[in-house]
This record gives sequence, structure tokens and C-alpha cells, in this order.
Amino acid sequence: MLPSLQCTLAILLLMASDALAAPRPAMGSTTTIPLVRKRHNRRTEKDWGAWAQNHREMLIGKYGGSSSGVAKRGSGTNLITNQNADSSYYGSVAIGTPPVSFNVILDTGSSDLWVADSGCTVGCKSVPKFTSSSSSSFKNLSKPFNIQYGSGQAAGVLGQDTVQMAGFSVANQVFGVCSAVSSGLLNNPVSGLLGLAWNTIATSGATPLWQTLAGSGAWDSPVMSFQLTRFVDDNDAQGLEPGGTFTMGFVNESLYTGAIDFQSIPSGQESYWILPLTALNVQGNTLTFSSSSSSYAAIDTGTTLVGGPPSAIAQLYSQIPDSAPGTGQFEGYYTYPCTTEVNVSMSFGGQSWSISPKDFQLTQLSSTQCLGAFFELSTGGSAPAWIVGDTFLKNVYSVFRFNPPSVGFAQLSQGALAMDGVNGPLPSATIGSAAASVSASGASDALSSGAGRHGLLVYIYSMDWI
Ligand SMILES: *[C@@H]1O[C@H](CO)[C@@H](O)[C@H](O)[C@H]1NC(C)=O
Ligand SMILES: *[C@@H]1O[C@H](CO)[C@@H](O)[C@H](O)[C@H]1NC(C)=O
Ligand SMILES: *[C@@H]1O[C@H](CO)[C@@H](O)[C@H](O)[C@H]1NC(C)=O
Repeated sequence: MLPSLQCTLAILLLMASDALAAPRPAMGSTTTIPLVRKRHNRRTEKDWGAWAQNHREMLIGKYGGSSSGVAKRGSGTNLITNQNADSSYYGSVAIGTPPVSFNVILDTGSSDLWVADSGCTVGCKSVPKFTSSSSSSFKNLSKPFNIQYGSGQAAGVLGQDTVQMAGFSVANQVFGVCSAVSSGLLNNPVSGLLGLAWNTIATSGATPLWQTLAGSGAWDSPVMSFQLTRFVDDNDAQGLEPGGTFTMGFVNESLYTGAIDFQSIPSGQESYWILPLTALNVQGNTLTFSSSSSSYAAIDTGTTLVGGPPSAIAQLYSQIPDSAPGTGQFEGYYTYPCTTEVNVSMSFGGQSWSISPKDFQLTQLSSTQCLGAFFELSTGGSAPAWIVGDTFLKNVYSVFRFNPPSVGFAQLSQGALAMDGVNGPLPSATIGSAAASVSASGASDALSSGAGRHGLLVYIYSMDWI
């Protein structure tokens, strides 16, 4: 997700018809989507069985005699869900004692975890909520929490509890328990957001879950990775579809081929997952950029599209005959003839990675005009100049490496590509089967070192889905 920007980024899109609603300001009211397939969120007996076994193994690991603080190294997988034709991707975490699972947007563009509070009265209607009084390990830190994104904001109080994900458990994880959330930010069955960027931009000041795990050596390998599915070109896509795979502590070799091309985060820039965007190729013509901070890009799973500086976006569309800046509701966007197949590829200092024309074509506006997935973004220095979201990330296997701090991309395998556009059963909450538990550094770091920084998250609320 992206920081709250001056410009209007959250747009409402009626994917099913020509009519488009006006873009709304970040805090504007939006219509909630009637999801076609609502998933019953409660765990089955089988899920509980797997959890119970896993929990026991973790306790054995925790109290079984290791003195390192990390009982055992491990790795785990969280199966994710694709919401509203690639608008957002969520996974699951379990919070508290006994653990209760929640769906959370997996967001490499911010660094805080938060969930809707049972006392939430604004913007949480019909989403599953966290009841702190039902968790014996919950501690209320009684400090206000407030985070702003490009698509809205969430506010509440900071709390601390045990959080589990993909087979890992972090005790004393600090997170936001939110009582007011911008309308449209949470779409059932999503209850919150898990920030997967670095602690330096955590609004809470707390170390993010992933960083506690990676930093403590709990992972076999200091990486997390994503494979994201594509449904944007599938007219039969349901509101919820299988979303791909998120891994912690390993890369799944059956999901990519060839080598992973790692590029370092510029020295000292661990905040967002930043890489300089060095070149952009459009219809065979290359635009190059200096690798200074003006070309910094945040690699952001929590943002649907790709945003960049207005001048660079104009240059990009100038390579597409008969493209034109959008007007009115589409200011900041561009239209182009639907008959044009647009090939864009991006390079971050290493290999060049192509984006499928299917992802470039966000939607069809009329019988001839299509809307492009690259839009103008003026971050005014408050965030990286480029936000590279799912439009790009669906086309690669992406790896976020703790040490050395870097982001890697690899070609998706045939097996991974075969999951695109394939309707299937949605994953159930995957708390995982590996086992390692660590304790977060505690509340003392949860003050405000990240105050003033924001999450990137900009996503499209699609409505009228049926
Ligand atoms: C935490 O404590 C504050 C008072 O300090 C209270 O207003 C708030 O409702 C509590 N929140 C939770 C989630 O327990
Ligand atoms: C790797 O991904 C494949 C394809 O989704 C899956 O079948 C396999 O179980 C995964 N491997 C691990 C170790 O998770
Ligand atoms: C886009 O790329 C595809 C596959 O590489 C190619 O067949 C097609 O001609 C390209 N289109 C343009 C306009 O460059």
C-alpha cells in the first residue's frame, strides 16, 4: 500500500460495464462489494487438528531446551486469495490464545500489522473482528495507533499478542487493534493488513513480524516470496479466487525457473522494498532513468497498479500510438486503443522483466478505448517516485531478502502460470506445519520511530461485480 498522497489515488471502477464512478479521495466513501463467493471463515475440524499438532510442536520447540531463543529453523507457506480480479491479495495470520485466524492483505509497501477490533464501529461492518478479551495473552498497550494509506486509513490502539503465520509464532507482537477504518479499505472477508516492509517505516515503531523472524534466524533462508495469480482478463472471475503462494524462510523451486536475479536495496534505504527503476521498455523502445533517488521504486504487493512520475508516464504512453491522457474521472490515467497489444518491460539494474499485455490493459472503457495500468503519481518525496504493484508482480516470482537486503525476481514456472485464471477452491487459513517460535523485542520499541511514515497501499475497489 502506498502513503497518503496529495493526489487522489483510490478509484472506483465498475469492471463489468462501461460506466465508471468518479475517483474518490482517499477518505471518501466507497461502495462495498457484494462478494460472489463468500467464504465461511470458521476453521474446520481438520484445520483445528493441524493447528493443534502444530501448536504442540511449537511449544515443544519453545520449551524443549534450546537456549538460542529460536528453537528450530524452519520454513512455511501461506496460500493466498486473489480478491476482485487482482485488486488485492490476502493471506492469513492467527492471533491470540487460543489463536483465531484472520485474513489480512499481504503488503510489502508498509510495515504495520493491524486488525479490526470487536469494538470497531466505523468501516468494519461485516468483517470478522478481533476480540481482545477472548485472548488470555493479549496486552493492551493503550497507545494510539493511526496509519494512512493511499486508499484510506485505520485508527485504534496498539496491543500485543502472539501472532502465528505459516508455521511460525511470534510472541509479544505489537499490532494495531482498529476501531475506525476508512470505508472500502476492508472488504469482507479481510479483517486487516500485514505490513511486510522494514521497521524504519512502521507507524507503531514495532518490528514487523517478518523482520523479527528473519532477524532472529528462525528461517532456513532469510527470504520471503510471492507468486500471484492473474484473473484481470477473466470475465468469469469470481470476487474471490485462488491467489497464489506466499512463503517464509524458503523459495519454492517448483514455482519458478532459472536463477533469481537479486538486486540490492540502495545502501541504507531499507524502508520500503526499494530498487531503482533503471529502464522501461515500451513497444520495443527503451526509456532509461538515472539510478538516483528520483528513480526509486517501491516493490509493493499491496498496490494494484504501477504509479510513476507524470513525465515518465507521459513518455511511456507517447510510445503507444493514439493513447491519450484521461480526463475528468480519469485524470492521471491514460487511455489507448484496445486493439493495441502493449508490451512493457521493466529493469531494476539487472534483467528486464516483461509485463503481459493482459495486465497492462486494466479494463475496457468503450468499444475502442482501454485504460492502461500505469498511472501518474506525485509522491512529492514522501515516498519512492515509483510504486510497482501487482500489475508487474503477477508476471514474476518475487523474493524479498532480509540479508543482504535485496529484492529478486525470477521467471514463473509453467506450473505457476497454469494457476492463472483457473477457478478453484479457495485456500483455508494456512497456519502452517513448520515450527519455530520467537519473541518480539517487546513494547519498548513500539513508540513512534516510524511516525509520519505511511503505507503505500493503493488499490482499486471494484464494485457491481455480478
Ligand atoms: C485499550 O485500553 C484503552 C484505554 O486505555 C481503551 O480505550 C481501549 O478500548 C482498549 N482497547 C482494547 C482493544 O482492549
Ligand atoms: C511448492 O509449490 C508446489 C506448487 O504449488 C506445491 O505443490 C508444493 O507443495 C510446494 N512446496 C513446498 C515445500 O511448499
Ligand atoms: C509484444 O510481444 C509479443 C510477444 O513477445 C509479440 O508477439 C508482439 O509482436 C509484441 N507487440 C508489440 C506491439 O511490440
